[in-house]
Amino acid sequence: MKQSRLASTTISATALALAFATAQAATSVEERVRGLVHKMTLAEKIGQMTQAERQHATPEDVKTYYLGAILNGGGSIPKENRRSDWVEMIRDYQAAAGGTRLGIPILYGADAVHGHNNVLGATIFPHNVALGATRNPQLARAIAAATAREVAATGIHWTFAPTLCVARDDRWGRAYECFGEDPELVSAFAGPFIRGLQGERLDGNNLAADKVLATAKHWVADGGTTYGTGDEGYAIDRGDTRLGADSLRAVHIAPYLPALKADVGSVMVSYSSVNGTKMHEHKALVTGTLKRELGFAGITLSDWSALGEIPAETNRARIVRAVNAGLDMVMEPEKWRDFITDLTAAVEAGEVSMARIDEAVTRILTTKFRAGLFEWPLPPLATAPDADHLIGHPAHRDLARQAVRESLVLLKNAGGLLPLDKKAKIFVAGDHADNIGLQSGGWTIEWQGKRGSITRGTTILDGIRALAEREVTYSPTGEGAAGHDVALIVVGEEPYAEGMGDYRPLPCSKCQPITLAKSQREMLARVQVSGVPMAVVILSGRPLMIAEDIGSWQAAVAAWLPGSEGAGVADVLFGEQAPSGKLPVTWPKSLAQLPINTGDAKYDPLFPYGFGLTYGAPSSIR
Ligand code: GLC
Repeated sequence: MKQSRLASTTISATALALAFATAQAATSVEERVRGLVHKMTLAEKIGQMTQAERQHATPEDVKTYYLGAILNGGGSIPKENRRSDWVEMIRDYQAAAGGTRLGIPILYGADAVHGHNNVLGATIFPHNVALGATRNPQLARAIAAATAREVAATGIHWTFAPTLCVARDDRWGRAYECFGEDPELVSAFAGPFIRGLQGERLDGNNLAADKVLATAKHWVADGGTTYGTGDEGYAIDRGDTRLGADSLRAVHIAPYLPALKADVGSVMVSYSSVNGTKMHEHKALVTGTLKRELGFAGITLSDWSALGEIPAETNRARIVRAVNAGLDMVMEPEKWRDFITDLTAAVEAGEVSMARIDEAVTRILTTKFRAGLFEWPLPPLATAPDADHLIGHPAHRDLARQAVRESLVLLKNAGGLLPLDKKAKIFVAGDHADNIGLQSGGWTIEWQGKRGSITRGTTILDGIRALAEREVTYSPTGEGAAGHDVALIVVGEEPYAEGMGDYRPLPCSKCQPITLAKSQREMLARVQVSGVPMAVVILSGRPLMIAEDIGSWQAAVAAWLPGSEGAGVADVLFGEQAPSGKLPVTWPKSLAQLPINTGDAKYDPLFPYGFGLTYGAPSSIR
């Protein structure tokens, strides 16, 4: 008991009582953990360090191998993807865990990165790049809290969010998962987002409320990799960040300071490398900086099968390097039995110390206790009578729609073409105008996302039709514009996630050109010859190369990846709310300028970081 600390401080009776209760609680967690670790066998300890994927591990496996955690990959869903199917699955895993000798409950984790994007009918919020454009961290906190409610209602304890990457090169397929290119902007969102998910701190009751464990990812400098150094065949994803220590701290470590201050429960290590060393074996940055210097006391988690990318001769050698570097829990979706076998052999051979194993298990158990998992192996929201109603709750959809409104960046508005007149004869063109899958992007129902009516929500065209006072003409290909007062053309990217979204020079079948597709340019030309003034809305995870095109557009709006509430775009187009978004990333003139970021010595973009017009103000710089 820390009597000396209490005795030597002159504090009020209330504060003393609070300090005593907190110390008592802290001691009880420390004691409970120490007591458990002391009892645990090596098999039980290594089981806790193992996270398997739901398709490759049954509840019986949880029992037999004492597994500490389960996850689902993007698109891996139970049964009919109903809320009750998720709850039933997690209940079965927990029942198995509860049947082990020590009854340590599992943590179930999933990527709920822009809402509970795994579940049909869940609210899909704008991706992080759009939230960065709002410059509204408190809105992001509310979004995280709504996401936590929908996640907890499915019985899940843990989301692998927020991504705290600093997007330094638009050619990276994960740029849209970052709040922006500037570390101060990303840092401003880190704490509020984590508190929205977890609550103020991990206090033993988080899972009892409507909160979930958060994950700051991917440690570190995942957004700073050099183009052409990509791993696993990617052009830049999982590549090598080449920076001096000061720049590494100033740009990529900075957002983790508010994340740790917000008591984030876990940190996911990055696939990428720093100065040639894979982060998953980077002891100096994982143990030295994150754990010892910055004092992170939660769980360091590997990325999906990431140990396999460590350049070593055998699986056992890769595991030894990762665990000795400071990885506490390993996400080994399919080959988790090999992980257990090889780590066990490594410990028995003295290649990994029992002290390292005990430190990892202590962190895992402490985080489980601090989140309230032992008391609440199934979040109470999962069994609440109105739980179904929480998925895609109207209040969450309203919040998402507000985020969409605030995220739109008005790039050009010649002649004040916008806002649209509700009485005007409006022509709408483009697949992207009427497609929830396209407006949601990657990490939506499927890992890579996909076109189509993939979940419930409103498209941009739905929103336009609801606000217009005359019939709206819609043509996916842009035919029939003549005779209308205004043409609204929606263009953009196809959905993608991770390295699949890396830019590669054309021609290639699965490329992401980060320019407008040929079919979209043809559509724009078709409308242009009609002489009808054009307002173009761009749905993309990053800036597209439009310098050669924008001259013939009267208006242009960056709408990013708005998610399920596309009607929010129409709200701004009709002036229900004026545009207020500011670019969270620099908008380049051409590919040749990449990478280009605010603060660069040579900086001549199409639109600078922070740019954004509103109605009634000067209408264009292009
Ligand atoms: C993926 C991503 C990571 C995600 C994890 C689980 O490869 O890199 O962000 O949380 O695997 O899906």
